[in-house]
Amino acid sequence: MKKTLAIMALGLGIGSFSFAADTCRDTELYANMEDMRSAMRNLSFELRASNFESAAEHAQALLVSSELSAEHPPFRTQQLNEDEQQAFVENYQQSMDRLLELIADLQASIAEEDGRAAGQVMAAIDNHSRSSHRQFKARGCN
Ligand code: HEM
Repeated sequence: MKKTLAIMALGLGIGSFSFAADTCRDTELYANMEDMRSAMRNLSFELRASNFESAAEHAQALLVSSELSAEHPPFRTQQLNEDEQQAFVENYQQSMDRLLELIADLQASIAEEDGRAAGQVMAAIDNHSRSSHRQFKARGCN
């Protein structure tokens, strides 16, 4: 069944979120996340080869996909009770903000051509996304 929820998204200037997906794989968020995964893979590859110019392009692609992701509440939101949904979406947005900060750090390391620092930020992004997935992905969503 298709559902529409109206949740005020703090600080995003978006008045409502709609859920038109029957499974987590049908969401725009899922598609954006797949773009983020591609950007991360390309980043790892280029950083290993110290290709900072290409790495900067993939970091920019990661930033754009992540900003888009931040506008879409997780599929799991609609599985929660209504009184839990707002706090869940706010926590999600905070975790997305943390990701955007890490991406800014990554871009700074790449601009300085500091491969070691960039590698450390990549590891921090991996850790952050692993714990965020535990918190925000619906069960069985992969
Ligand atoms: C660069 C960091 C990240 C990458 C590469 C990434 C990648 C992915 C991928 C490939 C999926 C598809 C399902 C799977 O294969 O597990 C996914 C799903 C998902 N991710 Fe991420 N992710 C990242 C960060 C985050 C963060 C920080 C959050 C939360 C703040 C998050 C929340 C989700 C959610 C909720 C889904 C399920 C889709 C839905 O509910 O509609 N991800 N992610």
